[in-house]
Amino acid sequence: MMHTIVLTTRKGGSGKSTLAVGLALAAMQAGHAVRLIETDPQGTLSRWLRRRPKTHPMVDAIHDMASFEQRLLLLERAGVTVTLVDTAGGDNAMTAAVLQRADLCLIPTRPCIADVEASAATLGEIRSRARPFAFVLNQAPHRGQRIAHAADTLGEQAAVAADGLIARPFIVLRNDHQDAMAAGLAVSEFAPAGKSADEIRGLWRWIEQRLGCGRDTPEFALDDDAAVPAASAHLAARPEAPCGPL
Ligand SMILES: Nc1ncnc2c1ncn2[C@@H]1O[C@H](COP(=O)(O)OP(=O)(O)OP(=O)(O)O)[C@@H](O)[C@H]1O
Ligand SMILES: [Mg+2]
Repeated sequence: MMHTIVLTTRKGGSGKSTLAVGLALAAMQAGHAVRLIETDPQGTLSRWLRRRPKTHPMVDAIHDMASFEQRLLLLERAGVTVTLVDTAGGDNAMTAAVLQRADLCLIPTRPCIADVEASAATLGEIRSRARPFAFVLNQAPHRGQRIAHAADTLGEQAAVAADGLIARPFIVLRNDHQDAMAAGLAVSEFAPAGKSADEIRGLWRWIEQRLGCGRDTPEFALDDDAAVPAASAHLAARPEAPCGPL
């Protein structure tokens, strides 16, 4: 069975793309066969893939709903167990349509008023489609009242017990995330022993529990989805660029 996880929030810069990459690698390392789909025309993940010194996870850039539906079918048939979808911010018709297919919507939210307020509109869209969701507090300070206040406000916004709706752990603001993206890596590859990698792996475990999709025997299942061609020929054909110094 494939689980489709959609990263979504109208607010730009909250961490959709960064978390999609981080979680994709954490899921792979936990034994899942993983695919990334990006529906954001900005192409953050496609550009990350071009910098990437490895071939997995593959990224499919998809910009219409018919292709999206087809791709999900194909991926599930090919044995992919987790598909993470990175969507565009703003008021975007494709994002709204994609939500319909989410087994879990993750709403990255920085602990600042602009993100917390913007998440209300996103939450409304998710709720109108009756999709499961959770907030992910991202770019959080190490400690302090700000994070607790943001969590409380989000909990109130969701108007139900916040426990199952605010994912744990919170993801702290650290350069590792930016440096990993710049190197075409995920944070658990860039600094595997670092705190950021730990948090992302913890976040993946939280998601696994929420979805009930934990794998008993962790292993890299990197070749499971090799039979599915990339949606964009230019991505499939890209040269393998070695990772240079930054
Ligand atoms: N936990 C974090 N710590 C430090 N930097 C982070 C963290 N999460 C994201 N960033 C940085 O914040 C910026 C925005 O992140 P990202 O591109 O993932 O957001 P986004 O929601 O996908 O934005 P957009 O709506 O433009 O697609 C990037 O420079 C990214 O490296
Ligand atoms: Mg993005």
